[in-house]
Amino acid sequence: MFRMTRLCRSSRLATDMTMTPISDHASPCPRSQVPGPRMSRISQKLRSGLFAMRMAVRRLRGQKITLPDGVLVTAKQPTIKCRGGAITMENGVQFRCTHQRARISALPGGNIVIGARTLINNGVAISSAAQVRIGPDCKFGEMCVILDTDYHQVDEGAPVRVAQIEIGRNVWLGRSVMVLPGVTIGDHSVIASGSIVTADVPEKMLMAGAPAKAIRSIRASDSFRRH
Ligand SMILES: CC(C)(COP(=O)(O)OP(=O)(O)OC[C@H]1O[C@@H](n2cnc3c(N)ncnc32)[C@H](O)[C@@H]1OP(=O)(O)O)[C@@H](O)C(=O)NCCC(=O)NCCS
Repeated sequence: MFRMTRLCRSSRLATDMTMTPISDHASPCPRSQVPGPRMSRISQKLRSGLFAMRMAVRRLRGQKITLPDGVLVTAKQPTIKCRGGAITMENGVQFRCTHQRARISALPGGNIVIGARTLINNGVAISSAAQVRIGPDCKFGEMCVILDTDYHQVDEGAPVRVAQIEIGRNVWLGRSVMVLPGVTIGDHSVIASGSIVTADVPEKMLMAGAPAKAIRSIRASDSFRRH
């Protein structure tokens, strides 16, 4: 009890020091309930541990899910669907989904690899029927969609388009970006919010629009990592 009181006091103190004071009446969350950094860390550890356990159970059931201990879940658990495909997450992959779960689906024959320290935000959906390979240190804004299959054919008798997607390192997809089958995005590139990527993107390029077009090249050394 004493310990809980101390935790609440210290989280309140931390909040007081870092935020402009507003009345409890106007706040959607009373200040005493705003988790401090220590509570957030504990909560992240618990959520990440729960995620690792859920994935271990899936592996026991024969699903091809590979992940190290260091995958971080800071809020809602992502929805992981392994329907005959394979999913690999590297160390430090982070799911930051405070209000909408991310959804990762490997369909039969699909293979998804998410590189180290890549950040996946609210509502991101990644589906693969072939291969989606994502490099390290990428950042995916809310509601991004990455699909390597169209799911349906356009013309009668035509096959459904299925083609691999390759996303390099340190790529930032702004909010609501869509990446379509067969696309390769080069290292360090940025795709502006709301864009639809229909063709290959060279490295170190800012792209925007639907379909996404090159806007300008980006200044980035090879070791650059966005924060
Ligand atoms: C990527 C981004 C930061 C680029 O910003 P920037 O380098 O300052 O680019 P600018 O604002 O100077 O825009 C350059 C050009 O691209 C166009 N552009 C920028 N964003 C665009 C978009 N989302 N869609 C279409 N065109 C866009 C601008 O109209 C401008 O065109 P012009 O030269 O003909 O006037 C910005 O476009 C963006 O997407 N911001 C939102 C990021 C986001 O989603 N954050 C959420 C958290 S992940």
